[in-house]
Amino acid sequence: MGKVIAIANQKGGVGKTTTAVNLAAALGVLEKKVLLIDADPQANASSGLGIDIEQAPAGTYELLEHEAEAKETLIKTSSPNLDLIPSHIDLVGVEVELVNKPKREFMLKEAIKDIKEEYDYVLIDCAPSLGLITLNALTAADSVIIPIQCEYFALEGLGKLLNTIKNVQKIHNPDLNIEGLLLTMYDARLKLSNQVVEEVKKHFGDMVFDTVIQRNVRLSEAPSFGESILEYDATSKGAVNYLNLADELIRKNEPKDTDNTDEEV
Ligand SMILES: Nc1ncnc2c1ncn2[C@@H]1O[C@H](COP(=O)(O)OP(=O)(O)O)[C@@H](O)[C@H]1O
Ligand SMILES: [Mg+2]
Repeated sequence: MGKVIAIANQKGGVGKTTTAVNLAAALGVLEKKVLLIDADPQANASSGLGIDIEQAPAGTYELLEHEAEAKETLIKTSSPNLDLIPSHIDLVGVEVELVNKPKREFMLKEAIKDIKEEYDYVLIDCAPSLGLITLNALTAADSVIIPIQCEYFALEGLGKLLNTIKNVQKIHNPDLNIEGLLLTMYDARLKLSNQVVEEVKKHFGDMVFDTVIQRNVRLSEAPSFGESILEYDATSKGAVNYLNLADELIRKNEPKDTDNTDEEV
């Protein structure tokens, strides 16, 4: 099916990488073939999956510069059904190096057009910026997931992001959809967390995923072991939340494929 989903929000620390890694791993566990593209020079998704980026022969940088074929950049991860295209700090250079290239926003779309059909889902972990790399991700994507942290100023900057998405729809990618807004780091004990959920649901209604990702310390520990939450602690709240999100995404995108996913995981 090859559905490409960018995980974007120019705010840092809202749960983009945590969502990219663990949603990708959860989809893999549910027997979907998944490719995760690390499009952040910080390379947190790569290291979080235990990939030593210094050893990777090529990655998102070479892909965006069209210096390597997508298949040369693929790395198999220890997580079932999950491949990764890793990132490296060199990726920052792309922002200036591509600036004068024709069709500079289409470099990623072009680079993955053949390989994406080999996967059910291709997730792109975006950097906390709305620069050229993120524009490439939004141009290559069928849809975007926007993580929103249940914290002070949760909606700050969201208008700018939605505007950028509108511009990409107008100029580069008319088919881009919003897959959903995802509430992250929810803490039921905090009044503020509950207020944010209420406010976001009031404003955005159906655009918000039913699944809410709770604050769970296991999610923040897993990356230092180079493991997704499903490998690190499959019974944790975090693992259950991301499996539920994967299930919700599959139900939304593959309505026929519901017979084995009726039970709540
Ligand atoms: N649901 C969660 N519960 C606890 N910690 C979380 C959760 N989601 C993310 N974190 C932690 O918050 C920090 C920021 O998350 P991250 O996914 O890296 O955000 P982003 O990619 O948007 O910058 C990281 O240290 C991460 O481990
Ligand atoms: Mg990140």
